[in-house]
Amino acid sequence: MSQANRSLVTIDDLSNREIEALFCLADEMSGSMSDQSGLCQGKIMASLFFEPSTRTRLSFEAAMLRLGGQVISAADMGATSLAKGESIADMARVVGSYADIIVIRHPWEGAARVVADYAGVPVINAGDGSHEHPTQTLCDLYTITKERQTIRGLKIALCGDLKYGRTIHSLTYALARLGAARIYFFSGPGVEMPAHVLGKLTQDYGGKLIKGPGDDTQSLAETLGGQSVDAIYVTPTDSHQLALMPGVQIKVDIRDGAIYVTRLQKERVGDTGPGAASKKDYPVIDARLLRRKGLERTLVMHPLPRIDELAYEIDADPRSMYFEQAARGVPVRMALIALLLGAKELIIPQEEDSLVQKLDYHVYEGDPGVKCANRLCVSNQETEARYIKPKFKIVSLDPLTLRCIYCEHELHPQYIASSDWHEGKLENKKYHSAESHWIRKIKPENLIIFDSENEAQARGFKPSKYVTVDR
Ligand code: CP
Repeated sequence: MSQANRSLVTIDDLSNREIEALFCLADEMSGSMSDQSGLCQGKIMASLFFEPSTRTRLSFEAAMLRLGGQVISAADMGATSLAKGESIADMARVVGSYADIIVIRHPWEGAARVVADYAGVPVINAGDGSHEHPTQTLCDLYTITKERQTIRGLKIALCGDLKYGRTIHSLTYALARLGAARIYFFSGPGVEMPAHVLGKLTQDYGGKLIKGPGDDTQSLAETLGGQSVDAIYVTPTDSHQLALMPGVQIKVDIRDGAIYVTRLQKERVGDTGPGAASKKDYPVIDARLLRRKGLERTLVMHPLPRIDELAYEIDADPRSMYFEQAARGVPVRMALIALLLGAKELIIPQEEDSLVQKLDYHVYEGDPGVKCANRLCVSNQETEARYIKPKFKIVSLDPLTLRCIYCEHELHPQYIASSDWHEGKLENKKYHSAESHWIRKIKPENLIIFDSENEAQARGFKPSKYVTVDR
């Protein structure tokens, strides 16, 4: 499939083979950065950054300029008509008529999906709230691949703020898909990996989660020093939880590994939110830690910006990769823009493309009905709720699990009914427990899902004898 005119909203929008081929193109770009100015001549990129950014915004803009294109930008939501109550969809339609490609960073989870739905031109997600940051993941994977030649079989540790870190979420999915042998999660108190990310890992990628020791886990330094880990991606929190996935067991010495560090996402945690209180306990990657046995060749990775979690003393250490990650953002983003604008094409054999797991989930539109429970989801914002219908993938029937198509948070609704209830008989208009046999009996296209019994009754349904189920 051609990459032209596609969007990159989540890392799953690129197949494994496309990611690998994109890295070959990035190699080509970095080898002759100043010779690419004919590729996107006459094209315009809209750069919309409604949250602060140094690396992502400027590397995207540098990439477009290197390709011979031009850039229009908005970096302050307050200076756009969004501040006057314009919807994201209307903004997307308008900007899509001015530019050939849009790069957007927005604080609402799922905002990039909405822009992609309405813009009519390729859209690249440069970070949507705590959801995903797929191009950072491309830079991360490119760096690991340059240093270690492969992702397959590596052991990677992700540490710190796993809850709000969008780079962590995209990277976790990609590592699982690309065959990392194990991913270790070291989260800080209150900023553990969210249930919906773990759910996707197990549901979509067959990951096996193993709960590690509890709060009495030894310090991060001791734990890392005792493990055979290939990559460590650390965020600034105390370690108290360890989970491992998936089940593939390939021994790789920690000396071939990497440490990936990120900062606490203070803009999402606030001064009083989960994780904020434990700032003093956040692990610091410093020269002392890197002297530990087993970390001799471990890469230290961080998406930047750093706060306190990476000591400046290790900047010159050959294991420190964070400035390389940032620098590689230009050729990686040049390759991506060239592909989405059709200036370059990757020929991927169909059978190779099937390396990415294609999951054909039924999509449920809950209107009226269930709503996403994530208050930061774009579907729950006043300006957007006027036109966005909540939409979910039904990812499991046992228990009934819906995944919001915008922010990917999960819901477990309790009540269901069938839309072909009546057959002319009002007494058949019944609702049932989602745990009853009806969940398998009702055809997906006839399924109605309720947040509560009140809602079912408000819509004229009566409780069936299967409204409660003995557990
Ligand atoms: N890594 C990253 O997204 O950096 P910026 O916030 O500076 O773009």
